[in-house]
Amino acid sequence: MSDATNEFEGLESLDGRAVVGRRIVWHESTESTNDDARQASDVGEPEGLVVIADLQTKGRGRMSRTWTSIMGRDILFSVLLRPSSADLPKMPLVAGLAVARTLDAFTETPVTLKWPNDVRAADRKISGSLVESGSSDAGYYAILGTGVNVNLDAAAHPEISEIATSLRTLNGADVSRREVMRRLLSEMDQIYTSKEHMATLVSDWSARLETIGQEIDVRWGDDILHGIAEGVDDTGRLLLRDRDGEVHRLEAGEVTTVLSDPS
Ligand code: BTN
Repeated sequence: MSDATNEFEGLESLDGRAVVGRRIVWHESTESTNDDARQASDVGEPEGLVVIADLQTKGRGRMSRTWTSIMGRDILFSVLLRPSSADLPKMPLVAGLAVARTLDAFTETPVTLKWPNDVRAADRKISGSLVESGSSDAGYYAILGTGVNVNLDAAAHPEISEIATSLRTLNGADVSRREVMRRLLSEMDQIYTSKEHMATLVSDWSARLETIGQEIDVRWGDDILHGIAEGVDDTGRLLLRDRDGEVHRLEAGEVTTVLSDPS
């Protein structure tokens, strides 16, 4: 029998009025919290459900990648929301901004965003979100699945040490996952449920975007587009100005910064 304890127990009762975290389900291990939230959505779960796991055996990232994690070190969770059709495309921004604001409270290192869903600190990725959305009889739904590196020892994993970081790596000491989660739920709830916060979401998010004004490549599948990142539009699409001055609005892709020629 497992002796794992649920570090997140009781978090839903901390703010009885909140939408996000209205019900919290914790799994010691599951395939993917996004799948769990989706299954709950399919049987009519109201918005606000949060599914957290200590381990995922089939964690998914963007662009068909896997999201791997070590038991009990980090935060892996998915939130079921039922936004309006107008707000649906903004859900990745809600996730990213909530994570960035949360991390501000736990590290002195500046926290930035990389389009479309990465949260970064010290030039490395600390969090990513996979937002899966659609519609059903109950209307639109969005599953905001997020992984946050909290106590990952990035240096102990050479395959990711150059590209990933964690709060522990930044601060040199373990951080309470419960406290990070408590703050995350409250930040996400504040943004999602407030007209004022939703109205300034794109500008608040863009203010942290690290590639603004830079020359970048955006890849998706076998395609690649080169240009200057000008910002995001009001639905979170990246505005990329190419050499001919044409502005492209991109919904998905992988951004790499073009290194300037030193010659
Ligand atoms: C990315 O950066 O590619 C997105 C990673 C998203 C990972 C999270 S962990 C919780 C949720 N469940 C999943 O299977 N994926 C997301």
